[in-house]
Amino acid sequence: MRVSIRKNTGCLVQLAQEIQACNACKLRSPDLLPLAGVGPSYADIMLIGEAPTTEAAKRGEPFLDITVSGENLNIFLSFVGLKRDEVYITNVCKCPKRVEYANFWTCRMWLDKEIKIIQPKMIITLGGPAIEAIGGVSISGFRKKWGFSGQVKDRLIFPFLHPSAWERNKRKKRQEVIEEERELLNELMRLLQDPGIVKLVES
Ligand code: URA
Repeated sequence: MRVSIRKNTGCLVQLAQEIQACNACKLRSPDLLPLAGVGPSYADIMLIGEAPTTEAAKRGEPFLDITVSGENLNIFLSFVGLKRDEVYITNVCKCPKRVEYANFWTCRMWLDKEIKIIQPKMIITLGGPAIEAIGGVSISGFRKKWGFSGQVKDRLIFPFLHPSAWERNKRKKRQEVIEEERELLNELMRLLQDPGIVKLVES
């Protein structure tokens, strides 16, 4: 059953304003606002990337679909049957900078606050920094310990490649990447069918 619930929308708006005003580390751009996550406050699924691109920060939308990462993310979402507007998409770091020690640790505070408000049933981490922030491990370390997915601090975590990594091996087509990761994606689709991971949408 699909249920319509609006929870904590106000808190999320306020948090986005606090994130925009953040000056906590030296990596803040003088001319670009840090970018909070985007998506409904009632989302059961949260996706976490690395850091917004400059264009994403300018337009206020993580994983813009005009970028390779954004396009690949869309392919990933539609492959597993999720819609962009029913998931919450955010980044470990909120400023359009490479993730490094300084912003990783200061931005963790914002990520924790986003998680506290959204209370997602499942977190899909995209790339190394995201699984490091959530589980304190690398993707391979996670898989050794938990397998494809696992319960970390009462939350179901599913680590996946960062969408930009799909393009690093230029000889591979996106479809081939999907084929290679099919076992993993089948597992994700199985988890998404679980009645415990109810997708809440606005009616
Ligand atoms: N855009 C984002 O918002 N995050 C990424 O990790 C990459 C591109």
